[in-house]
Amino acid sequence: MVSGSASVRLSRQISKLLSADLLVAEVNTFADGELYVRIPEPVEGEEVVLVQSTYPNEKLIELFLLQDAIWESDPSSLSVVIPYYAYGRQDKKFKEGEAISSRAVARRVEVNAHRIVTVDVHNERVMKYFELPAREASGMPALARYFSGGGVEMVLAPDENATRHAQAIGDLMGVPWDYLKKERIDSWTVETEEKPLEVKGLKVAIVDDVISTGGTMASAARIARSQGARSVVAGCVHGLFVGGAEQRLKGFDEVVSTDTVHTGHSKVSVAPEVVEELKRLA
Ligand code: R5P
Repeated sequence: MVSGSASVRLSRQISKLLSADLLVAEVNTFADGELYVRIPEPVEGEEVVLVQSTYPNEKLIELFLLQDAIWESDPSSLSVVIPYYAYGRQDKKFKEGEAISSRAVARRVEVNAHRIVTVDVHNERVMKYFELPAREASGMPALARYFSGGGVEMVLAPDENATRHAQAIGDLMGVPWDYLKKERIDSWTVETEEKPLEVKGLKVAIVDDVISTGGTMASAARIARSQGARSVVAGCVHGLFVGGAEQRLKGFDEVVSTDTVHTGHSKVSVAPEVVEELKRLA
């Protein structure tokens, strides 16, 4: 296995499960911001798994450079694991003249790869942009494992897109789930429609694929609290926590994310699910 600098902890977990040796790539930054990467040992003839999340932007460039470095070393195969797949939200043209950014990323990733595994891309349409064998692991079982030990009694999606996630976690845990409707005004502002929820006296987990600014979560938490939830925890697969998110999330009793993007909130690992998908593709 080769780990890029964005995914060292997750790579360690995956390498343990696969009983595979782990090489951590050397990565340096030149004075002008350009990256330098090197894999510390040749991987000629090896079945290589490369793991690298693509947030923030320079980690995406690092991924492309690492793929090139490994390819140069002539492995027998290269499986590319992208735990957080950046640009997944621009999965189509919303306005004429726009790039289909997630397709652009997929096309570049496929230049040096034999197969691809990602975790909860924003929209399943993204997976269709891959022509190589590609699979999407789910981060929901990891969140369900964590919440099961923490006494969560109800799961809530903060918007309609997250409904399938709330349902998956609720079903795995055997607790009820519901969803809210949200309108995004701009990157920093959302409006959530209030509706009656069965949350009174309960410990509620609000779950989403991504927490970016935290606005979506904070808005849903206010509604759950105002309707009498006893405790409110936030759960996401990809915790980006940008620009003031920590402050916006202060209203939660706990914030939990997986290790697709490593932060202080990464309390559960998606390694078992990633390994399962790698084995399916082998
Ligand atoms: C969008 O549909 C995503 O699933 C998330 O709800 C969104 O990325 C969260 O963004 P923020 O934390 O900035 O509200």
